Amino acid sequence: MGSTEIIDLRSDTVTVPCAAMRRAMAEAEVGDDVIDVDPTVARLEAAIAERLGKEAALFVPSGTMANQIAVRLHCRAGEELICESTSHVYFFEQGAYAQLSGVVAKTLVGDRGVLEPEQFEGAVWPNDEHFPRTRLVWIENTHNMGGGTVQPFDTLAQISRWARGRNLALHMDGARLFNAVVASGRGADEWAGLFDTVSVCFSKGLGAPVGSALVGPREMMAEARRHRKLFGGGMRQAGIIAAGALYALEHHVAELEADHAKARRIARTVAESPHLALVNGPVETNIVYFRIEGLALGAAELVDRLEQAGVRLLFVDETIRAVTHRDVSMAQVETALSRLVRILDDASRWGR
Ligand SMILES: Cc1ncc(COP(=O)(O)O)c(C=O)c1O
Repeated sequence: MGSTEIIDLRSDTVTVPCAAMRRAMAEAEVGDDVIDVDPTVARLEAAIAERLGKEAALFVPSGTMANQIAVRLHCRAGEELICESTSHVYFFEQGAYAQLSGVVAKTLVGDRGVLEPEQFEGAVWPNDEHFPRTRLVWIENTHNMGGGTVQPFDTLAQISRWARGRNLALHMDGARLFNAVVASGRGADEWAGLFDTVSVCFSKGLGAPVGSALVGPREMMAEARRHRKLFGGGMRQAGIIAAGALYALEHHVAELEADHAKARRIARTVAESPHLALVNGPVETNIVYFRIEGLALGAAELVDRLEQAGVRLLFVDETIRAVTHRDVSMAQVETALSRLVRILDDASRWGR
């Protein structure tokens, strides 16, 4: 198998910068963004703020840091955020809201990551010294564990109105907001308008090597800059990486539709296979979860066998995850699927 082509569908974070992006990074004008300003970081911050229809933005190293700065901006120690039970901030960030900011999380169980407005009624603590103070409503869009779900816009609009009516802050984890933009045809500013702050990642489907942004009101972003420094996220000549992010924002957004088509192609094979079942379907963006049905072969073992056949998928919470991205072509998706089907056929023929 030494010469087998490796097809990596573990995540949309595995992309490497293309030649034009690398050139933009190499030629970026830079400064010290901690002492005062890096001009390329400033350009990126202005561009992403404008795209989302917000006053200002802050460039940070990761989506996790953008999220954790948002928690700290909106909540003090002893206050509470409400989020969906499989959202990234709850599931995959080590409970950092508690570790870093002394904040409590209340989880509501969604359908494919989608919460209904009625679920929030009764979730807010009464104003009583026995309870934490509920401060923040947290929505993930697209929803990763939900299956790359695009949040229904009208539902979010209702939740936003409800939260604003109760003086609660709203944050959107938009690590994959641009996948939602492309899939829904709604502008990033429309989505962002429902929230006080939004985090977006450049290093996922957009194909930049590093970087995320937190976007919101100017005064809040000035405060966010203090929190970024506290969390160790002040970066000096960060224009080098900001240039990659800016290139991604300017050139790669529309191309996300091709990733969605590749994910739909994977979903079709899953639907047609007697041995597989789609989890959290239908597929709306670039993430596909599925499980094995009626075979002795387990999901972890299938992932191992695929790895040996040069196809890399992730075993997540008893399911298998495939994420499409710009560095895997439709032809490579077809190759990966034929290897998958062959392994399943062998397993069904030999009983495992
Ligand atoms: C929805 C969501 N939010 C936040 C993050 C965190 O991003 P990072 O890995 O850059 O910290 C991820 C990472 O996969 C994610 O899927």
